[in-house]
Amino acid sequence: MEEAFLVALSLGLILLAFRLILSHFLPLLLNLRASPKGSFGWPLVGETLSFLSPHRSNTLGSFLEDHISRYGKVFKSHLFCTPTVVSCDQELNHFILQNEEKLFQCSYPKPIHGILGKFSMIVVVGESHKRLRNLALTLVTTIKSNPGYINDIERIAIHVIDSWKDKGGSVIFCEEAKKARARIFVTVKGIIEERRRISGGGSTKKGDFLDVLLSLKYLTEEEKVSFVLDALLGGYETTSLLMSMAVYFLGHSPPSLEKLKSEHQRIRANKEKDEYLNLEDYKKMDFTQHVINEALRCGNIVKFVHRKAIKDVRFKGHLIPSGWKVLPVLSAVHLDPILHESALQFNPWRWEGQNQAACKKLAPFGGGPRLCPGSELAKVETAVFLHNLVLKFRWRQEGEDMPMAYPYVEFPRGLPLQVEPIT
Ligand code: HEM
Repeated sequence: MEEAFLVALSLGLILLAFRLILSHFLPLLLNLRASPKGSFGWPLVGETLSFLSPHRSNTLGSFLEDHISRYGKVFKSHLFCTPTVVSCDQELNHFILQNEEKLFQCSYPKPIHGILGKFSMIVVVGESHKRLRNLALTLVTTIKSNPGYINDIERIAIHVIDSWKDKGGSVIFCEEAKKARARIFVTVKGIIEERRRISGGGSTKKGDFLDVLLSLKYLTEEEKVSFVLDALLGGYETTSLLMSMAVYFLGHSPPSLEKLKSEHQRIRANKEKDEYLNLEDYKKMDFTQHVINEALRCGNIVKFVHRKAIKDVRFKGHLIPSGWKVLPVLSAVHLDPILHESALQFNPWRWEGQNQAACKKLAPFGGGPRLCPGSELAKVETAVFLHNLVLKFRWRQEGEDMPMAYPYVEFPRGLPLQVEPIT
């Protein structure tokens, strides 16, 4: 009797194990066989530590170099505790970003480290994302449609740059670029609090973005304040990093700096002495746009974005299994020598005659339904800043410093500069 029970139990266990293998491990094994080549590395941590190991942000870093040469531009790995497909392939990156919510979904680890962690909407998906995104787009449109907008930006830029005259010739550039940040924080908070205080009055409404935002029922007061601050402050952080990149790369490329300066001297020549820039002037800044594109390509402020596959996806013979993490590496496309001649060189002229809208070789702002809503703002602010900088100051880097991807990009020493006013 006891024997029969033991036999039945063993059979039961064997069947259970068999079922488990069929239902769980077999698909995994099949997925592993069909998924791209690669290695899972250590148990649990996988290859996360080597993936995150710091390197110059204008290089791929040894992890990607090594893996691309071993497995190709699309490979599997085990990152952030999840089986992952890493894509360094321009077409696959584009496909992933365009198929947001259809085949892939935004999936940032919590807590999110890195520069995009400042944007709280990066973690929401589906309808909530659509609502917040519409708000972000309204915010940006409202800012841009304000005729005094470029003047406001220029006033802050001039304030920062003019203060250098009292600093004895030395500045830590990254700190300077963030001053403006503290001012924005205090101003926006003040405006929101004021509007909230008078919101019962009705007649004081200005019909602008803040009124739209504050009237929304589906967000709490705290969420509203946090949304505006996140969007603006996050935007300032990324934009000030873009300015630092431009200053760094221009400092290492005298011909680019000369050409940029002559563009801005031409623009200034047609204006009164202290007259502010306007939209027409901005539209004449062709070479400045090339400099900004090249600083974005070489600087790689956002190295990669986080997605997960929500269905099994086949692309170019690779299977990306449902539930796996997918990392489109934006920097790998920017530094791909097949797409960009002498890819490691800062060369703004490479963007001459290129139709930027159609140019998938440059995706510093992501793409598809998550494309950065602040991209144009960041470019205008950087252009206006560069205009004032190159006309008013000469600069030289003080000692070694370079943009490093941790993967959050930073200048370890804050980019120390020797600055000298141009008289
Ligand atoms: C050089 C400056 C900037 C860079 C390189 C940058 C880069 C990016 C990238 C790559 C994404 C896509 C993330 C993803 O697909 O997962 C993104 C999203 C976002 N960015 Fe930017 N950004 C910059 C400036 C700004 C500015 C100035 C603002 C605000 C005014 C802003 C607000 C946002 C927001 C709210 C999102 C989330 C969009 C969504 O999830 O639909 N960014 N940014």
